[in-house]
Amino acid sequence: MQKLIEVLNKAKEKDANFNRIFGSMCTVPHEMARKAYEMFIETNLGDYELFKGTKELEEKAIQWIAKLFHAPSSYAGLLTSGGTESNITALWIFKKLSGKNEVVLPKQAHFSFIKASSLLDLKLNVIECKYRMNASDVKKHISSSTSCVVAIAGNTPFGYVDEIEEIAEICSEENIFLHVDAAFGGFIIPFISNKLIDFRAKISSICVDAHKMGMACIPCGFLLLKEKKWLEEIRVRSRCTHTRFQASLLGTRPGAAAAGAYAVMHYLGYKGYETIAKKCMENTAYMIKLLDREGIKYVEPELNLIAIKTKNVGMMVDKLSKLNWYVGADEENGIIRIVIMPHVSKEMINKFVSDLKKVME
Ligand SMILES: Cc1ncc(COP(=O)(O)O)c(C=O)c1O
Repeated sequence: MQKLIEVLNKAKEKDANFNRIFGSMCTVPHEMARKAYEMFIETNLGDYELFKGTKELEEKAIQWIAKLFHAPSSYAGLLTSGGTESNITALWIFKKLSGKNEVVLPKQAHFSFIKASSLLDLKLNVIECKYRMNASDVKKHISSSTSCVVAIAGNTPFGYVDEIEEIAEICSEENIFLHVDAAFGGFIIPFISNKLIDFRAKISSICVDAHKMGMACIPCGFLLLKEKKWLEEIRVRSRCTHTRFQASLLGTRPGAAAAGAYAVMHYLGYKGYETIAKKCMENTAYMIKLLDREGIKYVEPELNLIAIKTKNVGMMVDKLSKLNWYVGADEENGIIRIVIMPHVSKEMINKFVSDLKKVME
């Protein structure tokens, strides 16, 4: 056993340390999440008849999220493995409900929609837009083949929020489903902005990842649907579990993720998340001040994500990784992505900007 532990420790040593990671939308999970996760490590929500207590925690975690996003009483929620599964599931349901196979979405949509399109045989009608998708463009792209529109609350390259309230009005008028991908923005926008990204706007579904700013353990995301009955579209009879029906993409699902999310949500509460969100925004503003001082160009951030402009993304990322800094590379947009997650401190920012300046010279 001791030998194996040594092997595990050696493997861990090769992993990047979060105090050098600037390009990830994940962070170090909260201690409370970690503790709960360990307690429920063996539980399977794919067979929740066996794990009734864990199922209750999942339901309570979903209720917490539903309250945050002002879900109507008709809602249904799913705990998923993250944004990818949530996005695929939403598009799967809307394809079945609409009987149509075209999805309107912005160029900055996450690549999980490419996976969804391949799996579900969907045609992606991509809207060209620089930073965010606006409502008038959506109107022009909707057709009789449109199954649903996808709007992003905190897009992956820039952290920008699409015109969700206005897009929701259009989708409602046209009787088309609107899925909001708040995988990244879901745990920050409600705490720092008045923008309506939730069910108070006329949206059909929303996904949010607790394993990003929610401080839960990987894998943990949520999908909320406006109508519980929509889940019937993906409900199947299970013949090998004690639980007779499943309505989720995954079969076996980690109860530990639900316990972790439940615990950290109730430990931190809305106030605790607000404090974390504000700290991330304060650190984002701090980094911007340093970048300005050094004359480094960036796209004005809306959330805790800074897109630094550069002509040579590959070379910059290579040079930074030689210095042990890990940033996001986005050649298509000519940017390196810096995500100011909860693990990022001012001290880390000082060291990073000093090295960034050197590699940019
Ligand atoms: C906007 C958005 N959607 C979806 C995803 C996919 O989430 P996951 O990696 O948890 O599947 C991400 C991940 O960064 C994201 O930023």
